[in-house]
Amino acid sequence: MGLKFAVLRVTAALACVLMVLLMCFQPVAGNEQRMGRKLAATTLKQCLAKGGARTAFPGTSEYSTARLAYNLRERYAPSAFVFPTTVAQVQNAVFCAKQVGVGIVPRGGGHSYEDYSLGGRDGVLVVDMEGFKQFSYNKAAKTAVVGAGFRLGPLYLALWNAGKVTIPAGNCPTVGIAGHALGGGWGFSSRKFGLVTDNILEVQLVAANGTVVTANAQKNKDLYFAIRGAGATSYGIVTQFTFRVHDVSAPVTHFKYRWNDKAVLFKNFKSFQSWGLNVPAEISAAFYMDPSGVSWLEGTYLGKKTSLLPLVKTFLASAAPNPTRVEEELNWIQLILVNWNYPSNTNPNQLNNVPFTTNTFKAKSIYVNGPGLSDAGINAMINAMNTGSNAYFIYDLYGSQSAINKVVPGETAFIHRNSLYSIQMVASWSNDNNAVTQTSYITRYWKVVRTYATGQAYQNYIDRDMPLSAYYGSSLSTLIAGKKKWDPQNVFNFPQSIPLK
Ligand SMILES: Cc1cc2nc3c(=O)[nH]c(=O)nc-3n(C[C@H](O)[C@H](O)[C@H](O)COP(=O)(O)OP(=O)(O)OC[C@H]3O[C@@H](n4cnc5c(N)ncnc54)[C@H](O)[C@@H]3O)c2cc1C
Ligand SMILES: *[C@@H]1O[C@H](CO)[C@@H](O)[C@H](O)[C@H]1NC(C)=O
Repeated sequence: MGLKFAVLRVTAALACVLMVLLMCFQPVAGNEQRMGRKLAATTLKQCLAKGGARTAFPGTSEYSTARLAYNLRERYAPSAFVFPTTVAQVQNAVFCAKQVGVGIVPRGGGHSYEDYSLGGRDGVLVVDMEGFKQFSYNKAAKTAVVGAGFRLGPLYLALWNAGKVTIPAGNCPTVGIAGHALGGGWGFSSRKFGLVTDNILEVQLVAANGTVVTANAQKNKDLYFAIRGAGATSYGIVTQFTFRVHDVSAPVTHFKYRWNDKAVLFKNFKSFQSWGLNVPAEISAAFYMDPSGVSWLEGTYLGKKTSLLPLVKTFLASAAPNPTRVEEELNWIQLILVNWNYPSNTNPNQLNNVPFTTNTFKAKSIYVNGPGLSDAGINAMINAMNTGSNAYFIYDLYGSQSAINKVVPGETAFIHRNSLYSIQMVASWSNDNNAVTQTSYITRYWKVVRTYATGQAYQNYIDRDMPLSAYYGSSLSTLIAGKKKWDPQNVFNFPQSIPLK
């Protein structure tokens, strides 16, 4: 699902004001520190220049532009940005970061909830992978090779144009495939095709010692395990993915049932939950609610409208009467457009030009396993939705019949394989004075739900306040062993990366 509801469409003018603000943002430093930093910057500049990739250093307009991230909450100041277009240039960036002694992180689409692709702290070298746009489709093998610089919109379009195929990714066209795939990747066909991470057949990455490594089911199996769920930054910079792709040439149906009545939240949620226990994998769906009393069920059926209706009958029978109903039969690429609120007759090429939007927010997540929350739990959860907040809550259905839950938990580093749904809670604000209050609403909500649910959380909705065990559970010790082997000096780190011990 995603954050489309709270998306703030930043106009060009506003973006300019923002860039000026960012340019003025300089960390306070003593004289000596400043000189040390200047020296490091000079060395870094000279070293990166040898690779020949475009760079952006503080004090330039290129730097201010590059510093824009989806979440404006943390405005980290990297030591520099580098924009490689070849694997050799990525290798050189790793070499330079080590030589100068600065941190280094890769950036895909820049949608990390905690701005970890800006380093998660000041002074890190950001390797922006946007230049990696290689794409090829193998019809016979049903696979696609995809560069780490793709965003979801252009990737959906490329796959559709190549052979009416897809990967089961999320709805937001500007999210980067790299971060999305390496931490999971749930979308409106995941119950049928699995998470995006389950469809990674191979990656090519630049490891901490500068070597180019291939990881797949035969080669470097430990790395192949680790990057599917815990692949963000910790083990290296992924330059290229090979994905298993899926035929979506047949008609599909988009559905949405919407209510605007606070009094029916309990009834609708309970109906969603019991329906969700027993839904065929051809349906992927999410439930939404917020304190204003709006609620809806939205999703995709991989089939025609006439065969959808019997499958949502039990949900509609137990939910409140008379929702606003949408049931639209479409082709797959129209569905992708509609999922992002474009009209279905929009030219699909628009997916290559979706404007990069921003937001200022804090999010948390938690998994609920079957059979779901008790009535007391649902009541407590709804009561915890503070009316003073503009927070909203999204419940992404996983469920027993889904391809997601058919993967054996120890097969990949993604451990959340026994879940009925994940809950995402998002609070956003435009005035920073409201940050603490808004954040406290969802924290309180999370604590209430925690007493009824698992302590697991979704690593792609990364939240600085969670322990790593919530994301990686029993796979954490294997991940630490892999980290020791592949990055013994902890070259690739951020506040929630896989540690050495
Ligand atoms: C508006 C919005 C909608 C969303 N919708 C969904 C959804 O429907 N389903 C879902 O599952 N998630 C969704 N998400 C969450 C999303 O999957 C994560 O935020 C994801 O990490 C974003 O990837 P990115 O490449 O855009 O982000 P980035 O910030 O660029 O990267 C995220 C992390 O991955 C690391 N990374 C990036 N590139 C590489 C690389 N090449 N090699 C190694 N590590 C790398 C970064 O260093 C960072 O730690 C959404 C997020 C937003 C903001
Ligand atoms: C880099 O590290 C990997 C993992 O330890 C190892 O297999 C490879 O040989 C190393 N390469 C070099 C050039 O040291």
